Amino acid sequence: MPSSIRRIAVMTGGGDCPGLNAVIRAVTKTAIFEYGLEVVGIEDGFLGLVENRMHLLTAIDVSDILTRGGTILGSNNKCNPSAFVVTHTDGSHTKENRVDQCVQHLNDRDIDAMVVIGGDGTMSGASSFVRAGVNCVGVPKTIDNDIVGTDITFGFSTARYVATAALDRIHTTAASHHRAMIVEVMGRNAGWLALHAGVASGSDVILLPEIDYDIDRVCDYVVDRSQHGKRFSILCVSEGAKPKGGELTVDYYDEKSPDPIRLGGVGKVVADQIESKTGIETRCTILGHVQRGGTPVPEDRILGTLFGHAALEALVDGKQNRMIVMDGRDVTDIDILQVADKQRQVPLDDPLIAAARGVGTEFGG
Ligand code: F6P
Repeated sequence: MPSSIRRIAVMTGGGDCPGLNAVIRAVTKTAIFEYGLEVVGIEDGFLGLVENRMHLLTAIDVSDILTRGGTILGSNNKCNPSAFVVTHTDGSHTKENRVDQCVQHLNDRDIDAMVVIGGDGTMSGASSFVRAGVNCVGVPKTIDNDIVGTDITFGFSTARYVATAALDRIHTTAASHHRAMIVEVMGRNAGWLALHAGVASGSDVILLPEIDYDIDRVCDYVVDRSQHGKRFSILCVSEGAKPKGGELTVDYYDEKSPDPIRLGGVGKVVADQIESKTGIETRCTILGHVQRGGTPVPEDRILGTLFGHAALEALVDGKQNRMIVMDGRDVTDIDILQVADKQRQVPLDDPLIAAARGVGTEFGG
């Protein structure tokens, strides 16, 4: 074995998604079965690292979890160890750098490297540890599919399936009642989920964060459909969509979170405008966290297994501070520091946008 690694830690950070357990299983089983390493599971993402909550993982601990959604380790999307939020007795908050304390917790357990499974926020968090000398290998997860450097993240395929299935169900009721029906999907500032679910379900209108919409253009399209054959319209709206010259629709601000903006509600805004401008009855369904829950589809189980295995291989090959990525059909790795604080949006020349326009889909802009 070319590396001197004996014990590794694994953690899941940020919002959960289907496939996390597949990665934990692949990392742990590969470490134990192929390389005789010890694996320590950190509980609840970076929060467990700050609070020194971790435990040894055995092969039994990770058996029977491949098909389960969520994460057996727990997760947290509010903790950034370099700006850890401390709440005082008077209710006020201050931020403290707890990275050194975390490194001490890792050193106390003789941990040689950390597998960090998470999205862009977690990769940004990992960069503080890289700078403090901890070898981190990242595994990119998120239903948003918005991590730079990888063509796909695990979790995306399951969310895409859930959103498509919801749109299919909305389709039949929309047709019965001759309504415009909106399904708002997640994705933050990237439209991958809306674009893919919208195309897969044959949505008539798809609104993306990358293309600001003109509400009058959307209304004209819906009216045109109702007057020429189809008396209903299906709209797939990304939570990050915004009108030309307008703002994002923010559901609330979570001040304790490193990324405080929680999007949500643009679907209802669009529904109200369509109804008032056209007189066509319009309804909105906000899918929310149902897109992140439940059983992972086979694609995410497979990708999670590939990524988890590749993370372990990278570590035992002596690689330092990499993130596992999918590049075309190749599983490879890039510098983890390349990823922090960036987001991968849908390019306007994405072939799926062109194909959707080709079959008559309206993007509002
Ligand atoms: O990043 C994953 C995601 O589900 C986004 O699509 C969504 O905007 C956000 O997390 C919701 O965050 P929370 O779980 O904190 O409500």
